[in-house]
Formats: sequence, structure tokens, C-alpha cells
Amino acid sequence: MSGTDELLRVEGVRKEFPGVVALDGVDFELRRGEVHVLLGENGAGKSTLIKMLSGVHRPDAGRVLVGGEEVRVHGAQDAERLGIATIHQEFNLVPDLTVAENVFLGRQPRRYGLIDRRRMEAEAAALLERVGVDVAPRTRVRELGIARLQMVEIAKALSLDARVLIMDEPTAVLTSEEVDKLFAIVRALRADGVGVVFITHHLDEIAALGDRVTVLRDGRSVGQVPATTPQDELVRLMVGRGIDQHYPRERPDTGPPLLSVRGLTRDGAFHDVGFEVRAGEVVGLAGLVGAGRTEVARAVFGADRYDSGTVHVGGAPLPRHDVGAAMDAGLGLVPEDRKGQGLVLDASVQENLGLVTLRSATRAGLVDRKGQRTAAARIAGELGVRMAGLGQPVRTLSGGNQQKVVIGKWLLADTKVLILDEPTRGIDVGAKVEIYQLINELTASGHAVLMISSDLPEVLGMSDRVLVMAQGRIAGELPAHLATQEAVMELAVGAAAVPTPATNDVEGSRGH
Ligand SMILES: Nc1ncnc2c1ncn2[C@@H]1O[C@H](COP(=O)(O)OP(=O)(O)OP(=O)(O)O)[C@@H](O)[C@H]1O
Ligand SMILES: [Mg+2]
Repeated sequence: MSGTDELLRVEGVRKEFPGVVALDGVDFELRRGEVHVLLGENGAGKSTLIKMLSGVHRPDAGRVLVGGEEVRVHGAQDAERLGIATIHQEFNLVPDLTVAENVFLGRQPRRYGLIDRRRMEAEAAALLERVGVDVAPRTRVRELGIARLQMVEIAKALSLDARVLIMDEPTAVLTSEEVDKLFAIVRALRADGVGVVFITHHLDEIAALGDRVTVLRDGRSVGQVPATTPQDELVRLMVGRGIDQHYPRERPDTGPPLLSVRGLTRDGAFHDVGFEVRAGEVVGLAGLVGAGRTEVARAVFGADRYDSGTVHVGGAPLPRHDVGAAMDAGLGLVPEDRKGQGLVLDASVQENLGLVTLRSATRAGLVDRKGQRTAAARIAGELGVRMAGLGQPVRTLSGGNQQKVVIGKWLLADTKVLILDEPTRGIDVGAKVEIYQLINELTASGHAVLMISSDLPEVLGMSDRVLVMAQGRIAGELPAHLATQEAVMELAVGAAAVPTPATNDVEGSRGH
């Protein structure tokens, strides 16, 4: 190591993909014992930069130095040897292996040449406890929800005992309680001299955790500032302009109920859930983790079954557990797990955007390819999807741009009732406002929106009414003018005072 505190340095790194220059002469430096935030819009090049450091991509030009020495990072083993551990934005876990197997993948402890399961599971258990996640080492990864998947990824990275820890949007899918745990871990690592590269779209996390910020815009480093820099200045640096209205909700007149849910019950998940969403309305669904919001949304859409109750769309009853019928009736769902449920990764942007519309067009026997292309181009433009072209495979879009495509596909489909589960997860501040505006356009033209979000300010800013769920029931309803953070939390936590085996993680208090 050199005499300074410098752990890692990147000089003039360039990376070009077909049709796009992802990085164009980027400089970056990481010191011992600092949390260095990497900030930039969706597609700015953040993930690409860290993939240079973790051995996923090789730079076309420029240098990477570790401890003052120029290095080549060709693959995960190189990175590991150099003391660099990375938590990638898209999960890299193997669904059919257990948690312990995933944590120690490729470097399982051995005894007499055989994998020492006992030791592996004991060590995994210790790591899981350290990150504070309640998962058994023998659980198969496919059984985990995304918050827990993320915590397992974090445990895995910690097990490497790296000097450089890179985290690409680790908090995007975490609840506020899990975020607190993660921050405590990161602070302890920093105190031990570990250098942490931290990517986030939650601006409030920057001052809370960071020391310095490097801002990327269009593949270039546009500045390095202290983490105490005011948020509006950070935004101006990353977007190139100011963004004033964060929640530009207009409140149009409401019409008849488009979605009516009555007595919806699934044993062990939710009970007697009833609500309406009217034409022109945005209804927010808030609550604690495990309150059952995603479960209700999926059941309403027909993706999962329910035991009793009814769902009506536009006055007509929907059959249970029948997504096709729900879509035909004009119901749409933007799922929380975009990679698993929302996209065909190897298909193009245009094909993904057309997935819903094509279905009805094919049915009607008239597929207007040119019209499809025009419509796809329009929505991609409105959402600011950063891509080489409509033919680019969705897999190679940046994380936030993939999310825009999931939303865009439903916006195009002219659905009467749209259920959005964490719609702005991983979306940059500028694009969020675009999405809010599209939601406003939808409701202004008589559509109805049900929105689930862990970002409480977003729920409060965008909803005309807020339903609060607690332990599988609707604990209360608040009109917009009474829906404060405190009022929502009171309802969400009030019911949780009843003894319950469920976790009490508070989801929905993000962004305070
Ligand atoms: N394998 C690839 N092939 C083609 N283009 C790619 C590939 N990987 C990334 N890109 C492109 O490089 C650009 C930068 O993407 P990157 O994933 O680094 O963005 P990001 O800053 O991490 O964005 P986000 O906040 O959305 O995660 C994007 O235009 C993306 O489409
Ligand atoms: Mg990224």
C-alpha cells in the first residue's frame, strides 16, 4: 500500500457498449475508512463503473489502481484477491441453493475434501445474525422475498472480509429498519478502515451515511462534493437542472368506483380486506412489512389465489386467480419484483413495452406493428428511457431504466385500473417526477391507481386517500388532508401492538 489512505483509484476509465458510451473518462478515488457515494441518473454509468472494479467488465481505456499499483481485474477471483467485494444491483444468488450454499458459493469450507456442511451452516448463521436477518441457513433462496435476498447478498459480501466494499443500491428494496441495521454495519466497517462505495437514489441517505460524493452524468464525472452538500445542489449536479415539484399531484374530480374489493381473505395472509378505487383517484396503500399489501395486490390481480371475498372491475366481477381475465377487464399490476415478474429480459425494449397491448391487439386480430412502434417510442421518450434504441435487449438497460419499461408497458396498455407496487424503486429523482406526472395524466383521463410504496412521503404526496394495512387487515383510511406521516404510522403500528409472531419492521417510513 502507498503511504496515503488511498485504497483505490480509477483514472480516465472509458467503456463503450454497442450504441452507447457508458463511461467516458471517469475519475474516482476511494480512501480507507470512508463511505464514498456514487450518484447519478438512471443510466449515468454507476453500475458500469463498479463492474470495472469487480471484474465484470474490462475498461476500453484508463487505469485502475489498488493501493497505488495499477491492476487488471479480470473476473470475480481477481477482485476477491484484491480485497474488493461487491453487492450488485441485480441479485446474483442461485435460487435452488440454500442460503448457506449461496453465501459460500465457490469457497465452501472443506473437510477431508468434502464440503463441511456443518461448519458452512454455522458460519452462515453467524453472518446472518450479524446483518440481523432472521433466515435459516438451510432455507432455499427461491423462498425468500427481495428484502431478505438483499440481506443475504450483504452477508455474502461481508464474509469476504474485503478492504473495499461496493454496494450498488443496497437499500432500494430494504425497509427502514433493515436500512438502519445496514447503516450500523457500514459504520462499523468504516471505523475498521474499510472503504465503502455506496450507490443510492435515496438522497436522504447521503448525508446520513456518506463522507464524499462523486456525481456521474452521462458517463462523465461532473464533480466531487462533501456528503453534507444540500440535496437540491446534488440534484442540480446529477440532472443538470433543478427539480422543484417533487409531488406534482393534481386532484381531479373522482368518478364511479372502478375497482371494488370486498371481504377479501386468504388464511394466514389477509383478512376481510375491502376498499374502492374511483375513476380519477390515486389511493395509497401503506403499512408495516408483512402487513399484506403485496399479497392483497397480487390476489386482486389474480396472480395469487384467495379463499373468499370478491373483486369487481368497472362493476363486473372478476374470477379468482385468473390474470388473463383481470387484464381483459382492464386491470394492470406493476409488480415489486421487476426482474422476476415484470420483464422478458432477453426481449427488446419495444417488445417488452408492447407485451400488454399486443395481447389485446392479437385477440382483436389486428396487430398494427407501426402503431406499436410509434407508441413504444412515445412512452419511452416520456419516461426518458436511456437506451441505444427500441431494439436494445432489456437485460442490458440500467436497473432504473428497466423499471421504467415495466411501468411504461402498463401505461401504454390503457388499463382502467393500475396497481403499482413500489413503482419508483431504483428510479432517479428526475424520472420519479416524470412518473408522477404520468400517474396524474392517467387519473385526469379517468383511470384509477392503487399505489403501494415504502416511500411514505411519496404515498402521502401522491394519494387522494391512504389506506393503512396492519396484520392483513385494513386498519384505517385517511383522506389526503389528514394523511400525515404520524397518522399513518399510528394506524400501522397501533394494531401491531397486539402480540404477533410477524416482524415489526416499519416499512413506509423511508425518506423522512
Ligand atoms: N451489457 C451492456 N450492453 C449494452 N449496454 C449496456 C450494458 N450495460 C450497461 N449498458 C448501458 O450503459 C449505460 C449505463 O448503464 P449503468 O447500468 O451503468 O447505469 P446506472 O448509472 O447504474 O443506472 P441505474 O441508476 O438505472 O442503475 C446505460 O445506457 C446502459 O443501457
Ligand atoms: Mg445501476
